[in-house]
Amino acid sequence: MNEIEIAKKACVEAGKIAMKYFHGDFTITKKGRIDLVTNADVECEQKIKKVIASEYPTHSFLGEEEGAQGKSRNVWIIDPIDGTTNFAHGIDYFCHSIALVRDNEIVCGAIFDPVNKKLFTAVKGKGAELNGKKISVSKTDKLLDSVLITGFPYDNPELERKTINAVASLKSNCQGIRRFGAAALDFCRVAQGVCDGYFEYYLKPWDVAAGILILREAGGRVTNMLGEEADINSTNFLCSNTILHSQIKEHLEGL
Ligand code: IPD
Ligand code: CA
Ligand code: CA
Repeated sequence: MNEIEIAKKACVEAGKIAMKYFHGDFTITKKGRIDLVTNADVECEQKIKKVIASEYPTHSFLGEEEGAQGKSRNVWIIDPIDGTTNFAHGIDYFCHSIALVRDNEIVCGAIFDPVNKKLFTAVKGKGAELNGKKISVSKTDKLLDSVLITGFPYDNPELERKTINAVASLKSNCQGIRRFGAAALDFCRVAQGVCDGYFEYYLKPWDVAAGILILREAGGRVTNMLGEEADINSTNFLCSNTILHSQIKEHLEGL
């Protein structure tokens, strides 16, 4: 199986595990004051790695729950459940996110929303798809006509303040700002063209690796808050349909 097919298979297998637990019995532990993890997160990560290793036994991993493993130039970056707080509360907005990074370039990515059976995928240079059909960003060209997404950091008062300031500044200049609660799916909402922009001040490589590629392949732009091209090691992200990028950026403070 080629790389994107394996990424898709691993996402779908993780989806079966998540749906087995969703609205059912699972154990919740706190990683920080607010940040949660469940046994479903850990099982999903282990399953995803097992599926990938069955085809690519020499490749490395960077997973949110079990960290880095291996020293290959091919690294699979895994968020086993993105949107764990939603998952744990029974809110149906969460996903599984998998990307392959080779020599620091994201070569393919898959993000699966198992409740709504939406599988977003991209291969570098080949466009982005939702359930096998090409997707592209919106053509919205006025901030006032846009719907934006954001997210709040779990435990960082300074970045929370910047997020709240940005929301305050943008809210009367657009049609709405949403906080859905799963960064990887937030990238996909912009890639699909149903939202026009997304910004968040503190994200990790597993939150963004697949989403960056999917959004860029759908015609979107992904930078940091200063407007510099973002990569998986960036921490703050401004994503847009490209057209609105500078209009949104005017309302954001850099780090
Ligand atoms: C979180 C979600 C959330 C974002 C947080 C992430 P997790 O990931 O993507 O939307 O605001 O910063 O940590 O913990 O559910 O995998
Ligand atoms: Ca995440
Ligand atoms: Ca996670």
